[in-house]
Amino acid sequence: MSGAAPDPFAKIRAATDAHRAQHHCNAYPYDNGPLLAALAAGAAARRILELGTALGYTALSFASGAPDATVDTIERDPEHVRLAREHIATAAMDHRITVHEGDFAAILPTLDPGYDVAFFDGGTPAPGLHKTLRGLLRTGGTLITANLNHGGAAESVRKALFDGKSWRSALIDEDGETAISVKL
Ligand SMILES: C[S@@+](CC[C@H](N)C(=O)[O-])C[C@H]1O[C@@H](n2cnc3c(N)ncnc32)[C@H](O)[C@@H]1O
Repeated sequence: MSGAAPDPFAKIRAATDAHRAQHHCNAYPYDNGPLLAALAAGAAARRILELGTALGYTALSFASGAPDATVDTIERDPEHVRLAREHIATAAMDHRITVHEGDFAAILPTLDPGYDVAFFDGGTPAPGLHKTLRGLLRTGGTLITANLNHGGAAESVRKALFDGKSWRSALIDEDGETAISVKL
């Protein structure tokens, strides 16, 4: 679902697909960078947190949508980190995007709370990580959760996002893959 919106980072998205074919990894690029850019712009985000950098496609999309924002993005695969940093430097966004190399569980406790937007795109969502993400997001902040249709642990996360008490949530696609949630 790339829609009609022009995608300034379409080449990085394509490079991610090409990399995955060679590297046999799970670097599946998100299908709609312009949507993420628009969400960051609508939130007038100053601080954005991303779990799952891959080659930098979505971090760049967020940064382009919110020109006053810094982006902290986390990735454990060293080759993905290297390529993401290269793409980010080429786009002259390295002063605003920090790629943290390591596991989510190790990096998240080192970050300061108060993020305006957080994006989970790091495989199957899990309840423990989501609780940590909620703690890092400001009240009124926006959480975007991908891969909610993976079943298993993702189903518990989906239920929590739609409990009607802690989040105002909506699914944004017909297959229930992504939710946008505002922290209440
Ligand atoms: C679906 S890809 C991210 C795609 C990226 N957001 C994009 O749209 O181009 C998921 C990435 O998360 C990374 N990842 C998965 N689990 C992780 C973990 N526990 N800690 C850090 N990185 C992780 C993988 O190495 C992979 O690069």
